[in-house]
Amino acid sequence: MMQEKNIVVIPGDGIGPEVTSAALTILHAAAGRTGMKCNCATHLAGGAAIDVHGIPLPPETVAAARAADAVLLGAVGGPKWDSVAPEIRPEKAILGLRKELGLFANLRPVKVTAAMSDYSPLKPERVSGVDILILRELTGGIYFGKRCESEMIDGVEHAWDTEQYSVPEVERIVRMAFQAAAGRRGKVTSVDKANVLASSRLWRRTAGKIAPEYPAIQLENMYVDNCAMQLVMAPKALDVVVTGNLFGDILTDEAAVITGSIGMLPSASLGSGTGLYEPIHGSAPDIAGKQIANPLGTILSVAMMFRHSLANEAAAVLIEKAVEKVLAAGYRTGDMMQDGLTRCSTNEMAEKVLAELQ
Ligand code: IPM
Ligand code: MN
Repeated sequence: MMQEKNIVVIPGDGIGPEVTSAALTILHAAAGRTGMKCNCATHLAGGAAIDVHGIPLPPETVAAARAADAVLLGAVGGPKWDSVAPEIRPEKAILGLRKELGLFANLRPVKVTAAMSDYSPLKPERVSGVDILILRELTGGIYFGKRCESEMIDGVEHAWDTEQYSVPEVERIVRMAFQAAAGRRGKVTSVDKANVLASSRLWRRTAGKIAPEYPAIQLENMYVDNCAMQLVMAPKALDVVVTGNLFGDILTDEAAVITGSIGMLPSASLGSGTGLYEPIHGSAPDIAGKQIANPLGTILSVAMMFRHSLANEAAAVLIEKAVEKVLAAGYRTGDMMQDGLTRCSTNEMAEKVLAELQ
């Protein structure tokens, strides 16, 4: 009997609709080839939802996401909504979905194959073979702590945010890191700022307490400033990196760019319920609607969806292999174009991947 899965698709803003539409053709093809049927329903979030409903995350989108097997998201945000009130900014849609769906773990794999190492701003020998999995805590820390937009203290305006972590919040993400490392090279780097911050000292203590549960895995503690440096000096030494919300946000952008194109990188956000999958590149409003965006980050996010939420490893591998072959054959979107290669539009790139699937 054909297995059926229900997917909520949130195209969002900017290049989001183009890259999700391209990735959906791949989703349906890979499902079909592996005896699965995916029913996709489109919902609004971000600026697109502000335009229609006046809010970035309508309750019906949250309800649909909760009931689905997985969510595929393009990107949200753009200059059009820059002047809306802070509490209804498009970004609130992503933060709200993470909180509502309990998506406490963000998985951002960063891989550099030999063919890709030419695009890196770093020397090819330094990046070729990089294979890092960054696990970012996603529903805690300073992004969700108490804040104040404006407060007068002694006649001077202040604003503040607070960084707070609890032991259980740290335990669950650190355990996930150890489990991931067991299927990889056996090393976890826990990143904090324990020389200054109390919340980081709790983080480091908690990681240290979990470590004996996984005797085969090596735990290394690293300060975040040092990690920022190691990512460009010796990225091959990193295997699984686990860190809090703010440090993870910054380090994942840095890690992404050493691959040469942020347009290639997928992500998965996981918790106890529905998982959410999105490329990490954002809405790129300057190139929206031009059919030049790289759909591979979204296509590879669909592969992660098959792996982590749809229990279909075969479809995940099929997509990842197809993407490798298309790149090896020299097809590129504008962000990765070089002399002697073949330029593709967003949809043409998806068609090339599709051809490799069939
Ligand atoms: C990301 C983004 C988001 C974040 C924004 C859009 C709220 O930068 O997913 O990394 O900071 O988490
Ligand atoms: Mn970010």
